[in-house]
Amino acid sequence: MLTRRSFIAAGTAALAGAPAILRAQAKWRAQPFSLGVASGDPSPDGFVIWTRLATAPLEPHGGMPVEPVPAMWEVATDEGFRSLVARGQATARPELAHSIHVEVAGLQPDRAYFYRFEAGGERSPVGRARTFPLAASAPQRLRFGMAGCQDYQSGYYTAYRHLADEELAFVFHYGDYIYEYGPDSPAVRAHVGDVLMSLDDYRRRYAQYRSDADLQRAHSAHPFFVTFDDHEVRNNWAGDFEDEDHAPPDVFRLRRQSAFQAWYEHMPVRRAQWPDGPAIRLYRGARYGSLARLDFLDTRQFRTNQPCGDGMKIACAEVRSAKAHMISAEEEAWLARNLAARDARWNLLAQQVMMMAIDRREHPGRTSGKTVNLDSWAGYEVQRERLLARMRGLNNVVVLTGDEHSNYAGLLHDRDRPVAVEFVGTSITSDGDGQDMPSWGPAYLANSPQLKFLNNQRGYLTCDVGRDELRANFMVVDRVSSPGGRLSKRATLVVERGVPALHPA
Ligand SMILES: [Fe+2]
Repeated sequence: MLTRRSFIAAGTAALAGAPAILRAQAKWRAQPFSLGVASGDPSPDGFVIWTRLATAPLEPHGGMPVEPVPAMWEVATDEGFRSLVARGQATARPELAHSIHVEVAGLQPDRAYFYRFEAGGERSPVGRARTFPLAASAPQRLRFGMAGCQDYQSGYYTAYRHLADEELAFVFHYGDYIYEYGPDSPAVRAHVGDVLMSLDDYRRRYAQYRSDADLQRAHSAHPFFVTFDDHEVRNNWAGDFEDEDHAPPDVFRLRRQSAFQAWYEHMPVRRAQWPDGPAIRLYRGARYGSLARLDFLDTRQFRTNQPCGDGMKIACAEVRSAKAHMISAEEEAWLARNLAARDARWNLLAQQVMMMAIDRREHPGRTSGKTVNLDSWAGYEVQRERLLARMRGLNNVVVLTGDEHSNYAGLLHDRDRPVAVEFVGTSITSDGDGQDMPSWGPAYLANSPQLKFLNNQRGYLTCDVGRDELRANFMVVDRVSSPGGRLSKRATLVVERGVPALHPA
């Protein structure tokens, strides 16, 4: 292995007859692994490994030459890479911001692996990933994490630092990985650049976020299943519509295309999630043996525009429109098939926006009627009720949600009968330090009998899944406005298989 200095010297000496790729490397100013490494979408025989080469992350092309750059990757069973099990070459192309996605296959099920990359005479940090157990196996336990909503301007990624230290099979990311806004003032950490519009804008924002050491640590510790919500594109977008800039649908689709390309470039996802113009196949499933089926939903790309002008309002008649939908007909049919298969102890619906239609009246008596979040499933009642009716009799559905920037747990009903539980994860940083019980909390709890738990601090969830019970641990940090926040377990809530109800541990 050449050191960087000797590599550059050798490259410079050989410049005259060297191919373009080698000449490009000789010009590198810094090590290219400034954005870390990541893995994702584990299966029983492999996972995706990811990196993006960038010597100067905030500069055009990440400071890289606008040329294809060769790289190598390795996977081993030990952290010292003495027992290599797979290796290969990859090309980091400027068309994809010099990102590299390798779908590693042929590995053993249910075991840990280590991976790393080499480029320009440099080695990347080492990442750790884990394969899933075989679909035909019957695992007794699964422990995973969930996180999202990580506005860089709202605070430090201390929660990710703690998440990295957990023992987890994977992390489910429920979206809002970046926020599209320009710089806030004051901000704990300011965004570089204005509101995101072009492909280069989105790329630079991902580069800024991915430069964070705590976020890199979480990615190198665990494989992620990533999804997106609204802020990867634009606040509260819905299908071809967005309300912030009033762009016509065909114009908005061009911006969405740029946002989707940058999302793909920066996420450890498979080729199946390749951006095809303004479209990405985001919804997808996974099976953790017979213990759990995971269905990752897409609640943005196909939805009809929010009813009643969006916002937190008393619902208008539009929320009961038969034409309104949160997920596409194809996605709904796919989900219905998976639920009907009854081939796992637990059905985990991993998605973005709250499914419980809780009452958002901030103070009892101030608003005369039930107030709902029209950007959540509460704005799409016909499809919501159809989905809840499909859960009846299964008694093993757990809905996993983000978006709210608060922790919630509660029950989902088909008519008067509870049919599932929902755990809503808070934010990593969005909305700042927070507090255990916010001013609006008591009213929410008093007006929403299905709601059993509420907390407004930052953090993440871990879920312990057994054959007969599932435990959600609400992990919170005492602050994000300065580094070094202390972690504590705010609550553990338990659901028993066969009984859609919640109990404290
Ligand atoms: Fe968010």
